[in-house]
Amino acid sequence: MNRLEGRIALITGAARGLGARIAERFVEEGADVIVNDLSLSAAEKTARRLGGRAVAADVSDPASVAAMFESVRTMTDRIDILVNNAGISGIEGDNDAQERIRLRAEAMARGEEPPEELDGGIAEVTDEKWRRMLAVHMDGTFYCCRGTVPLMPDAGAIINLGSIMGTFGRGGGLAYCAAKAGILGFTRALAHELAPRNIRVNAIAPGWIHTDMTDPLAPLHPMLEMQTPMGRMGEPDDIAWCAVYLASQEAGFVTGQTLSPNGGWYMSQ
Ligand SMILES: NC(=O)c1ccc[n+]([C@@H]2O[C@H](COP(=O)([O-])OP(=O)(O)OC[C@H]3O[C@@H](n4cnc5c(N)ncnc54)[C@H](O)[C@@H]3O)[C@@H](O)[C@H]2O)c1
Repeated sequence: MNRLEGRIALITGAARGLGARIAERFVEEGADVIVNDLSLSAAEKTARRLGGRAVAADVSDPASVAAMFESVRTMTDRIDILVNNAGISGIEGDNDAQERIRLRAEAMARGEEPPEELDGGIAEVTDEKWRRMLAVHMDGTFYCCRGTVPLMPDAGAIINLGSIMGTFGRGGGLAYCAAKAGILGFTRALAHELAPRNIRVNAIAPGWIHTDMTDPLAPLHPMLEMQTPMGRMGEPDDIAWCAVYLASQEAGFVTGQTLSPNGGWYMSQ
């Protein structure tokens, strides 16, 4: 308790999922949270529940992020902690992907080779899908760091959400893997730049965690559990506690690192 007492944290994509749980644990540890999401009403709902404040922005849009920081500046003159959590899987509302997930699960249950990659393979990845994925994850992380650093006092902390897909890589998620790997490289470079100010920049690369993002993969959950040495998928708290650690002074000598809570699914960074 009180590990983040008096600290002001901006968390992107925090209306639900991992971001919302990170915000909740931050509040329990004494932080004031500013909840960002695409929809102001969704962000406000979570912020109200946690006693925090809300700002809307599409993190992939530089004008939208600039407007968000205008609002943030009316709320506070500093941000001690930034969590770049906003993200997409790329299969939201994609019925073809749903069908591929179903076929893949059925084939694997029969012990057969899976029929095709979840994104349909590289020839099926459109410019639009590729750009959107990189824009939300990589551009969004960059824009929010650029907006925050001038407001961040020494001894601040930045946490960027990567993924095991950015370290391990996997067919069927080309754009997602590329975006998450890019975030890890960006994290290390920014950690170097900000170390003289004692601002720490780290990444969390979660394994498979139960959230709305992984719900559409439900037919594959049994296989993911089997592939995970700890025999289960993760829960949002498995990530939130890592974020609390990395944001706190307990991690005062930790920078440029990737912490990967994944139940042993991938054991090397
Ligand atoms: N759930 C997992 O298994 C898992 C694994 C590895 C990494 N991650 C990463 O963790 C982060 C959170 O994932 P989650 O599982 O909580 O997902 P989620 O879909 O439950 O929540 C993501 C949130 O981000 C918001 N968002 C999406 N695009 C946005 C944008 N352009 N601007 C602002 N907000 C935006 C959504 O509205 C949503 O509230 C993501 O970066 C994701 O890639 C998740």
